[in-house]
Amino acid sequence: QLSESYAEKQGDGGETHQVAADGAAVLTTSQGAPVADDQNSLKQGARGPTLLEDFHFREKIFHFDHERIPERVVHARGYGAHGFFELTDSLADVTRADIFQRVGERTPAFVRFSTVAGSKGSFDLARDVRGFAVKLYTKEGNWDLVGNNIPVFFIQDAIKFPDLVHAAKPEPDRAFPQAQTAHDNFWDFISLTPESMHMIMWAMSDRAIPRSFRTMEGFGVHTFRLVSAEGKSTFVKFHWKPKQGLQSVLWNEAVKINGADPDFHRRDLWEAINGGDFPEWELGVQLFDQAFADQFDFDVLDATKIIPEEILPVRVVGRLVLDRVVDNFFAETEQVAFCTQNVVPGIDFTNDPLLQGRNFSYLDTQLKRLGSPNFTHIPINAPKCPVAHFQQDGHMAMTNPRGRVNYEPNSWGATLGGPREDPVRGFRSFAEEADGAKLRIRPESFADHYSQARQFYVSQEPIEQKHIADALVFELSKVERPDIRARVVSHLINIDDGLAGTVADGLGLPELPASAQAAQPTRSDLPP
Ligand code: HEM
Repeated sequence: QLSESYAEKQGDGGETHQVAADGAAVLTTSQGAPVADDQNSLKQGARGPTLLEDFHFREKIFHFDHERIPERVVHARGYGAHGFFELTDSLADVTRADIFQRVGERTPAFVRFSTVAGSKGSFDLARDVRGFAVKLYTKEGNWDLVGNNIPVFFIQDAIKFPDLVHAAKPEPDRAFPQAQTAHDNFWDFISLTPESMHMIMWAMSDRAIPRSFRTMEGFGVHTFRLVSAEGKSTFVKFHWKPKQGLQSVLWNEAVKINGADPDFHRRDLWEAINGGDFPEWELGVQLFDQAFADQFDFDVLDATKIIPEEILPVRVVGRLVLDRVVDNFFAETEQVAFCTQNVVPGIDFTNDPLLQGRNFSYLDTQLKRLGSPNFTHIPINAPKCPVAHFQQDGHMAMTNPRGRVNYEPNSWGATLGGPREDPVRGFRSFAEEADGAKLRIRPESFADHYSQARQFYVSQEPIEQKHIADALVFELSKVERPDIRARVVSHLINIDDGLAGTVADGLGLPELPASAQAAQPTRSDLPP
C-alpha cells in the first residue's frame, strides 16, 4: 500500500481511478501505469521466452538491482529516532546560536546511535564505542553534534583515522575476525599508538557494552567554540546525560544476548518509543575560556583528554526527548548524513586536528555513499528553515533556483535577484589569530598519554576495575603474537602497576616487560 506522503508526492491526490475494487491503492509502475498482473512475466507462448517488451518486469528488476548503497565506512550499523530538543537554561550570554536563546522553545531532532567497527549486519552487543549523532533542525540551519558515548578518542590527528579503522576492521586477507577488538592487527596498532591508552581504558570498561541506547551518555568529544552576538568566544564541551541512568551489561550477558537477539538494542529503542516510554537526555555544557584552558598540562585541543567534571561542573541547559520511530529505516536512518561541518551562527570549531579532519571526511564520504551532491534534498537531511542559494543541477536535483537568475552579485533587484548575503545574521568564522611555520608536528602539550588513563582507571569501583582487567585479558588472549601482547602490557605499567600485573598473569606472560617510553617524541619534518 502506498503511504500517504508517497501518494501525495506522486500527485495521486487520491483520485478514484487509481483505487482497486477492494478500496486499496492500485499497484502501479514507477511511471504510475496501473499493473494488471504482478505474478507472471510477459512470455511468447505459455512456455516460451520472456519478452524484452515487458517494461513492468524490466523496471521492477532494474530497481531491485540498484537497491543497495555503500554502507558507512564506519558506524555502519545504527538505529535512529525522531524527537526534539527543549532549552531549559538560556545560553544567550555566550552564544548567538538561535537554538540556545529562548527557554522552553523546542527544536526538532533526529538521533542515530551506532556501533563503530561492525558491518551493517553485525550484532548490537559488540564491545565497541557507540556513536551518538544528533541532528538539530534549528531555525538558522542544521546543527549536527556527531558524538560518541565515550568522551575521548583513540587518536589525536585525523590523518591516523584510516589506519585506526583498517586495524580495527576484519583483517584484509582472511576477512576475520569480525569481533572488533580481539585480534592482532587492532592491538598491534594500539600498542604502537600510546595516545590511544586513555580511550582503551574506556573501551575495555563496561561503557563499551551498554544495556541499551537509552542508558548511554553522549559526548561531543572535541572542544567546540560558542560565539556571542558581540563576537566573544567561549570554549565548550557538550554532554548528553541519560535520564534513564547509565547501565551496562556483563560480558557473558553480552555474548548470550548477541546469540539470542543480535537486534537487542534496536528492538529495545523501537519498543520503548512505541510503548510511550520516551527516552530522554539532559544536554550539559562545560564552558571555559583560554585562561582556564592554560592552567592544564594537557591541551584542550587534544581529543584524547577530558576536562574533569570535578574541576568544571557540567551545566544542564536543555533536554532531548525521542518520541517517534522512523516511518522507513532506509529513507531516514540509512540516508541521514551527519556532518561535523554542519554548524550554525554562534557555534564554531577549534583547531583540534581531529575535528578539522572530520570536517572534510563526512561531506566527502557522504557524496560517495549517497551518490549525489544533492543529498541535502533528501527529507531527513533537508533543513526545516528557509534555504536559498544558487547551487544547482547534479544528480537528482530537486530544488534548483527558480527564475532567470542563478548567480550573484546581480542587479535584478530584491524580488527577481534571489537571495542576498546578510553580514549581520550570517555565519562568520571566529577571527582566531593564527601564524607560524607550516609543520607536520605534534605539540608537546599533546604528549602525556597516561595521566588521564590512570585517573579513569583509579576512579572506577573495584568491580569495574576487575571488568577492565578481564576484558584486556580476554581481548589480548585472542592476539597470537606474544610481542604485541607484551607491548600492550608495557603501556599498562604506565597506567597502573596492579592492572599491568593482573593482565600479564592472565595472559601467562613469563615476565613483566619494561614500561613503555612515557613521553613519546613528537615528529617534525623540519630539518634538524
Ligand atoms: C561516522 C563519531 C572521528 C570519519 C561517524 C558517526 C559518528 C561518528 C557518531 C556515525 C554517524 C551516523 O550515525 O550516521 C565520531 C567521533 C569521532 C570521530 C565522536 C572523534 C571524536 C572520525 C574521524 C574521521 C571520521 C577522525 C575521519 C577523519 C567518519 C566517517 C563516517 C563517520 C567517514 C561515516 C559517515 C557517513 O557515511 O555518513 N563518526 N567520529 N570520524 N565518521 Fe566519525
